[in-house]
Amino acid sequence: MPTAFIWGASGGIGRALVERLVADGWTVGAASRHPDDLAGLTEHRFEADVTDAFAVSQAVLAAAQELPSVELWVYAAGDIMATPVAEMVSPAWERILGANLTGAYLTAQQSLPLLAERAHLFLLGAYSERLQVPGLSAYAAAKAGLDAFAATLAKEQRKHRVTVVRPGAVNTPLWEKVPLRLPRTAMAPAELAQRILDAYHAGVTGTLDL
Ligand SMILES: NC(=O)c1ccc[n+]([C@@H]2O[C@H](COP(=O)([O-])OP(=O)(O)OC[C@H]3O[C@@H](n4cnc5c(N)ncnc54)[C@H](OP(=O)(O)O)[C@@H]3O)[C@@H](O)[C@H]2O)c1
Repeated sequence: MPTAFIWGASGGIGRALVERLVADGWTVGAASRHPDDLAGLTEHRFEADVTDAFAVSQAVLAAAQELPSVELWVYAAGDIMATPVAEMVSPAWERILGANLTGAYLTAQQSLPLLAERAHLFLLGAYSERLQVPGLSAYAAAKAGLDAFAATLAKEQRKHRVTVVRPGAVNTPLWEKVPLRLPRTAMAPAELAQRILDAYHAGVTGTLDL
């Protein structure tokens, strides 16, 4: 069976992906700040803060020793806060840009040697143009940056497929961090995991708005 690697694997979407893939018989590498949360799901667990270049490189080195080449790679880490620019402190801005954008760069770059020749990379983005609302400047800027990063990466890594998945609302703990009500139409994380897997099998690249 093929091999997948999920960053942000303890989050709502990341965990649903690990569960779906393991259930389908994939070998799954899972990176998280809390890898013990995934005990019993997959034996291939790695600890990394995605904003820590050294930790990311150590996780990739460990993964290279125990995993075959990765066909499906997903960046599902992310963070959000609602703070007006006037009140934002620099570490908070850096935390949001780090989790949503810099982490994507660090993990993608470090993971390149892990990837199979025709690997497919999925990055969890968002409808950044709709996020330009008071309080969400850092999150909206990071997700807009992720679109640009992924589009450029796709042109550089022509053997690999690159897709930015931009879901609407998904029912995960992310929503507990912002004073917003989860829409009734929110998708279950398991449904999104299935849609990502469907896109992998269909070879969908570019932007996948769901
Ligand atoms: N939920 C939605 O409605 C929605 C919609 C559009 C896009 N997205 C995107 O989908 C992705 C996954 O979100 P989610 O809904 O699954 O949120 P979530 O349940 O809050 O999961 C996010 C995960 O990212 C991890 N993370 C944050 N900063 C990290 C760091 N510096 N290093 C390592 N891991 C870090 C968190 O780890 P800890 O557990 O250690 O904090 C958490 O496990 C995010 O990029 C989000 O922006 C979500």
